[in-house]
Amino acid sequence: MKAAIFREYEAPVEIAEVARPELQDGSVLIEVHAASLNPIDNILRAGYLRQMLELSFPHVKGYDVSGTVVEVGKDVKSVEVGDEVFARPNQMDAGAVAEFARIQEDELAIKPANITHEQAASVPLAGLTAWQALVTKGNIKEGDKVLVHAGSGGVGTVAIQIAKHFGAFVATTTSGKNADLVKELGADLVIDYTTQKFEDELSDYDLVIDTIGGETLAHSFEVLKKGGTMVSVKSQDNDNLAEKYGVHFEWFFMSPDGKMLAELAKLISDGTVKTVIDSTFAMDQAADAFDKLATGRAVGKIVVTVK
Ligand SMILES: NC(=O)c1ccc[n+]([C@@H]2O[C@H](COP(=O)([O-])OP(=O)(O)OC[C@H]3O[C@@H](n4cnc5c(N)ncnc54)[C@H](OP(=O)(O)O)[C@@H]3O)[C@@H](O)[C@H]2O)c1
Repeated sequence: MKAAIFREYEAPVEIAEVARPELQDGSVLIEVHAASLNPIDNILRAGYLRQMLELSFPHVKGYDVSGTVVEVGKDVKSVEVGDEVFARPNQMDAGAVAEFARIQEDELAIKPANITHEQAASVPLAGLTAWQALVTKGNIKEGDKVLVHAGSGGVGTVAIQIAKHFGAFVATTTSGKNADLVKELGADLVIDYTTQKFEDELSDYDLVIDTIGGETLAHSFEVLKKGGTMVSVKSQDNDNLAEKYGVHFEWFFMSPDGKMLAELAKLISDGTVKTVIDSTFAMDQAADAFDKLATGRAVGKIVVTVK
């Protein structure tokens, strides 16, 4: 099958022929229609995480996938051949920018019928990260004041909408050019981080979702009320600021979860959550898609159409 691969750390992305993934018990094989990219794809390619996660080569890129089930493994009960599904597969099954992908049954959900495969592929990793940050780690509740950093990014665009669904007041940071978009997604207060300091504008927040780290994370502690919660998907609290400010701190790596993705799918089906796509590339242009990702300026998600 054709897949977007790289042959060693720091090597360019290329399209090559590789073996199809093999079906396993408890998994399905899907024909991929679309995949989306995430910053982790370029982080892994650069080799930054090789101490934690040694890759094998050629490495097939991509964690977010949407497609049609073409083979069903033993013990799989909830889906059949022909079903349209989307998923964030686990590390062993990752390899979304490819003609076929293997997905474990408990990591997939039925694709919402009201969106395209491109839109569906934009959801799983960023959407599950936003859900796990706000709900699982952040215990968001109605009336909470929530700050979502980088509201125009893949995680931020979904996080704003989930936080509004839970009845929160949502402030978000982005640059001025994206202000209208984040307001349309539901943000109540927009801070242009290029001209304003969010820590001067906000106070007494219940929850902050940090996707930036560094100084942004450090200053974010200042806007929390005592007993509030800081959830970072970017950095650890190396300076023990949570203790200094009397708040909770959580840092985590998102995990695949088909049931949670199905919850998100319901919110997409009823129009509560809308997908935001920055750009769509043909499979042959996958290398350009990864270059675009590397700019860090995507508004929503970068998608590759495979079929
Ligand atoms: N731990 C985990 O499990 C996990 C999961 C998912 C993501 N992450 C991490 O979370 C981060 C965000 O991921 P993503 O997919 O949302 O990235 P992304 O889509 O590439 O984010 C791009 C967006 O970030 C905005 N941005 C950049 N610098 C900013 C700043 N200083 N303040 C506010 N907004 C800023 C940009 O807006 P402008 O153009 O207006 O600047 C752009 O719209 C990445 O570092 C990723 O690795 C971690």
